[in-house]
Amino acid sequence: MPQEKQFADTNSIDLNVITPKIIEIAKQAGIYIRQELDQLLESHIETKEENSLVSYVDQNAEKMITQGLSLLIEDAGFITEEATIDQNQTKTWTWVIDPLDGTTNFIHKIPVFAVSIGLLKNGIPVAGVIYHIMADECFYAWQGGGAWLNGKRIYVSTTTEMKEAVIATGFPYKRNHIEELLLTLKKMILICRGVRRLGSAAIDLAFTACGRFDAYYEGAINAWDICAGIILVREAGGIVTGLYGEEEPCFSGHIIAANPTIHREINTLLIG
Ligand code: IPD
Ligand code: CA
Ligand code: CA
Repeated sequence: MPQEKQFADTNSIDLNVITPKIIEIAKQAGIYIRQELDQLLESHIETKEENSLVSYVDQNAEKMITQGLSLLIEDAGFITEEATIDQNQTKTWTWVIDPLDGTTNFIHKIPVFAVSIGLLKNGIPVAGVIYHIMADECFYAWQGGGAWLNGKRIYVSTTTEMKEAVIATGFPYKRNHIEELLLTLKKMILICRGVRRLGSAAIDLAFTACGRFDAYYEGAINAWDICAGIILVREAGGIVTGLYGEEEPCFSGHIIAANPTIHREINTLLIG
């Protein structure tokens, strides 16, 4: 017998009700990923493109996640990193998924990787769950509902001075814009307290949402890396834009997320 959808009528979707279901799905995938950490062999690792690795774990986790989410919203589209399901960006509701953000860390057994599930309504992030697997930290937010970490409300930092700010960033797998990247990095290093590169954009955004980082920026990034984190930082009181001020950065390919004052400072630093 086909499984019944839990929210057949898309007009009645209540983000407050749907978010716990997303959390459940993210955690299940997280448990699977954690179990596979010690099973992974060199022979399981494939190269997607230069420096970008993938294994069966990314692909199986994605299948688990999309199967679960398919039951939640009738006729929602999917944008997923591993494309194990038909991709569709034309629907009112779209799931944007990175089943394993921080794949290089996972492969090297560095315990910083996450499941990231975002939900777009008409192209705008409205719910997001980031499960930082090895720390058992589940970050989640939904539009109008605030941002949360394991049941506690979280907020962006209150830092106002760049010299006191700790800022996260990431480097793309392709090395073609290296001069530009180094120029921006130099500006940041000279002006702030410290720059960090964790290797998971989702965790960078989650840490920005809870005030561990004052900001996160990255120059070449995909929607699945940041969709969940965008709503998380916004609901935590932060500002999220593209590097050049784009209001909705999910598909812009670059991002700045920060508390409002630091966001303004970084904007001025980068574009004057
Ligand atoms: C990567 C990570 C990394 C970021 C890269 C992403 P992946 O995702 O989020 O921090 O700098 O741009 O591609 O490949 O580990 O899922
Ligand atoms: Ca990613
Ligand atoms: Ca990934």
